[in-house]
Amino acid sequence: MSKSLLYDNHGRAINYLRLAVTDRCNLRCFYCMPEEGIEYVDKDDLMSYEEMERLIRLLVAMGVDKLRITGGEPFVRKDMMPFLEQLSQIEGLKKINITTNGTTTANLVPELKKIGIHSVNLSLDSLDRERFFRITRRDVFDKVMQTLDALLEEKIPVKINAVVMEEKNIEDILPLVELARHKPVGIRFIEEMPFNGSGAHPVRLSWDHLQILNHLRAYYPDLEKIPDPPFSTSQNYRVPGFAGTIGIIAAYSRTFCGTCNRIRITPQGLLKTCLYDGGVFNVRDLLRNGATDAQLRDAFLSALGNRAKNGFEAEQRRMGLPVSESMSTIGG
Ligand code: 5AD
Ligand code: SF4
Repeated sequence: MSKSLLYDNHGRAINYLRLAVTDRCNLRCFYCMPEEGIEYVDKDDLMSYEEMERLIRLLVAMGVDKLRITGGEPFVRKDMMPFLEQLSQIEGLKKINITTNGTTTANLVPELKKIGIHSVNLSLDSLDRERFFRITRRDVFDKVMQTLDALLEEKIPVKINAVVMEEKNIEDILPLVELARHKPVGIRFIEEMPFNGSGAHPVRLSWDHLQILNHLRAYYPDLEKIPDPPFSTSQNYRVPGFAGTIGIIAAYSRTFCGTCNRIRITPQGLLKTCLYDGGVFNVRDLLRNGATDAQLRDAFLSALGNRAKNGFEAEQRRMGLPVSESMSTIGG
């Protein structure tokens, strides 16, 4: 990371790009979208694979060495696998990670292994098929479990993302932890954020990171803190003897902004230097207007030269625009 040219005005080096390749999804998770779904972006407004690849190459030359492919659901976009294969050839890009809901991924896993995908985050908020259905509004629990098994089988490192919601999945917290007893998975409990598509439902954060931790400690008194990897958004723990680990992500309380090393690009090409900002400039428009690499580099550097210190400042800068878009449009 020493070669990074991408520094923000707070001295933080940026080496991590989260790229949302589509806003479309085959689930309707309660915390992400209203039941009727969201209005999807026109296909022509999505960045093309060629545009995304050019951008990634440019950013890698500036110091980005870690990429997360996210969405929406990445695998609902046509020709996703050839795109990933293409990206895996980029020199200097050390890690490609994917976030998926796992509903259509199981039989792709051997291919993901072959391509060299570094790790996969699986969205799985419940281990009970009824509650899974109530959260995602689709009856595909078994498919996700098949994907989990396939990932473990291929030994692709896997983390499970579970958004913690009062009246939805509190009963699932302990069973999810139990999953880590024999399986080498990272179970991550995430505070619910208000990114659920306009007007879907207000978020009252009743289960913040502290409450989640207290809940875990009450059942696992010997829960021990383990070191967090650099730039981690999660506080990490282990129950002695367990194969996997437990993480808590204070996504709404925003305790981790100080070491933030990431930028996001939405499916329409909007650059976000913080999850909570309203978007800084549209990269796709620059590309389509014929920008040179030098112009693109300048645009990134000047955006980072004016980056909010943390998620609270980023939110304030939205000037009253509420934080209500869907995570599917932003990139989870
Ligand atoms: N709050 C917290 N996390 C969310 N995600 C999506 N919407 C929200 C939200 N409102 C996360 C989920 C999912 C990933 C794609 O984004 O954990 O796994
Ligand atoms: Fe789809 Fe992920 Fe949003 Fe659920 S959270 S609706 S799986 S994009």
